[in-house]
Amino acid sequence: MVILGIETSCDETSAAIFTNGDIISNVVYTQEEHNKFGGVVPEVASREHDANIHSIVSTALYRAKLNYSDINAIAVTYGAGLLGALIVGLNYAKGLAIGLNIPFLGINHLEGHLYSNFISTSNLQYPYLCLLVTGGHTQIWEVKSVGEYVLHSNTVDDAAGEAFDKGARLLGLGYPGGPEIERISKGGDSKFYKFSIPHVKNNPLNFSFSGLKTALLYKTNDIPKEELKKNRSHLAASYQEIIIDTLLNRLKKVYNKTKINNISITGGVAANKRFREKANLLSHDLNASIYFPPLKYCTDNAAMIAKASYQKLLNGINSHLDLEPNPNLVLNK
Ligand code: KG4
Ligand code: ZN
Repeated sequence: MVILGIETSCDETSAAIFTNGDIISNVVYTQEEHNKFGGVVPEVASREHDANIHSIVSTALYRAKLNYSDINAIAVTYGAGLLGALIVGLNYAKGLAIGLNIPFLGINHLEGHLYSNFISTSNLQYPYLCLLVTGGHTQIWEVKSVGEYVLHSNTVDDAAGEAFDKGARLLGLGYPGGPEIERISKGGDSKFYKFSIPHVKNNPLNFSFSGLKTALLYKTNDIPKEELKKNRSHLAASYQEIIIDTLLNRLKKVYNKTKINNISITGGVAANKRFREKANLLSHDLNASIYFPPLKYCTDNAAMIAKASYQKLLNGINSHLDLEPNPNLVLNK
């Protein structure tokens, strides 16, 4: 079965070709127009998707050495994400499905991230814990089997990726903030400035990141300009470290509660090398196996959407043409 995957939920226009269980091409175009605004501008994202989607799909097919007529089914993100951005991908998928007379299936973007570790060969086994860390979500899921999920932890305010993005802005860095903070943290002393792991009232498993961003704001206001300039890499490294420590603190708590020792860490923030290093140390402490997808499958991509669709399409599950995009789509708990 040849599946075309399409992902346009935020600022990446992506298409992937998946044949008989393997991804054979995955094209990701990251829209750089947003950088100058310090964040994603929804209207710009929709226009960019619209301008590029057809050539991205054609490139994915070209790299897979296939034609449109070879596609058997289409998998497309229909939520969560930016409404206008989702509309472009979903309508493109519907149009192509009609034109080629093939089925299409709407996929939850978060479900794509949950399965991204299976794209590259991995020893990940069910049940597993998935720490999902993106620009919009920070959650710990227990994936019992295909389609069976239990939510153990969620953020009560900002997502970890958002904390990186907002923190980067406070430090005068560009967008997206995660890679920028990671870059400038190199050579910085992560113990130079003191931040504490935030606690969430009534639920010690949940995350909260908005207080960390405020703590960083106070520091940037309080530290004299000259010192700030000199110590920016220390401040970035200290801020990066506390975000990572907060993520791993909750992961350890959920592990202690469930004793599930297969763990997957996915989403854009999972691309962070310091995070990977510290997670590996934790895996030794816990005697657990922690898996990260290759970097290209951490941030948004269509390969994970195609992968998440495979079992369902094999079982004959399709979407109807009246499927609407859903910006606030959640996963079933
Ligand atoms: O999964 P993703 O590509 O898109 C969403 O579904 O949101 O995640 C994007 C987020 C952004 O907040 C970005 O700053 C963060 O992932 N990110 C990183 C790194 N690369 C991307 N955060 C920390 N370190 C990185 N290297
Ligand atoms: Zn994502």
